[in-house]
Amino acid sequence: MIAGSRSINYLRISVTDRCNFRCRYCVPAAPFSVMPHHEIARYEEILKITRLACDMGITKVRITGGEPFVRKDIFSFIEQLCAIDTLSDISITTNGALLTRDKIQTLIDLGIKRLNFSLDTLDPDRFAAITGRDRFKKVWDAIMTAHALGITPVKINTVVLRGINDDEIVTIAGLTRKFPFHIRFIEYMPMGDLHVEKQQPQMLTSEIRRRIEAGIGPLTPLTHKAGDGPAKKFQLADAPGVVGFITPISSHFCSECNRLRLTSRGFLRPCLLNDYEKDILTPLRKGATDAQLKEIIQAALKHKPLFHTLGKNRLKDIPVSHMTSIGG
Ligand code: 5AD
Ligand code: SF4
Repeated sequence: MIAGSRSINYLRISVTDRCNFRCRYCVPAAPFSVMPHHEIARYEEILKITRLACDMGITKVRITGGEPFVRKDIFSFIEQLCAIDTLSDISITTNGALLTRDKIQTLIDLGIKRLNFSLDTLDPDRFAAITGRDRFKKVWDAIMTAHALGITPVKINTVVLRGINDDEIVTIAGLTRKFPFHIRFIEYMPMGDLHVEKQQPQMLTSEIRRRIEAGIGPLTPLTHKAGDGPAKKFQLADAPGVVGFITPISSHFCSECNRLRLTSRGFLRPCLLNDYEKDILTPLRKGATDAQLKEIIQAALKHKPLFHTLGKNRLKDIPVSHMTSIGG
């Protein structure tokens, strides 16, 4: 599918808005309620939409949440997704806390080759302070097990928060010397009514990169290949792993964005940072034909913006949606 000059081949599916963590940069500061179950797209509905999107050119899928592994029967969903033969690539973003060895092995047996973990600190107490849960060891063990069982690459997403975990950037980047991990430092995006933003100034990639280079040596840029996604990739000398930077604030990558999102409520969302969403679940439940549903997908893509303004108008253009409901 095409949106302007961009070819859209990547669908991110949020299977739930629920999460067993309460990361302070992700879930709302104020009390919030999750959606009632009947408002969440059922697996067969998600699969139907995904199959249609695959007919239209989607070849890559990522499963996100909330936390995908809190949803019941997620493994049978993943199995059915893996059976769509036009999909060449399926990966999952997870906080890892529920991923025991058996579950990781099951994922591998189903054909999952890549996993993205969220990990912002290597300090268990700080981990508990950021995520609201004392689960550092579980997550670290899951990462190590995924690596040991042959998941490649193991990707780690680290959101950098000034005054909260910025003193660990160098140590975290240094993990790529020991392990073939792809560690991606993400600029914090102010979403919804989060409070972190108001407490300390943003930490941008240029500064993160300078700190790493001053701390453990030069970062050599790797060539950017088509379909590589938004991370700008680098390597430390003699490192098997990769250091990546995701720069939603300092330099937007909208012109290269190849993705479409399906939220857990069954809305198509062409842009993470723009609140436009198109309901596809209701028409599907009302019996729309495949052709009509494909028209809805096309129509949603017409709304894929060419740029966002999050970096420029910081507190003005903050999307009201929360990351937990969109799926990061
Ligand atoms: N800013 C940047 N990244 C975020 N994530 C969640 N909330 C934010 C935010 N406000 C990322 C986390 C996680 C993924 C699901 O989304 O790093 O890995
Ligand atoms: Fe859950 Fe991930 Fe959000 Fe943390 S960042 S609260 S683990 S969805």
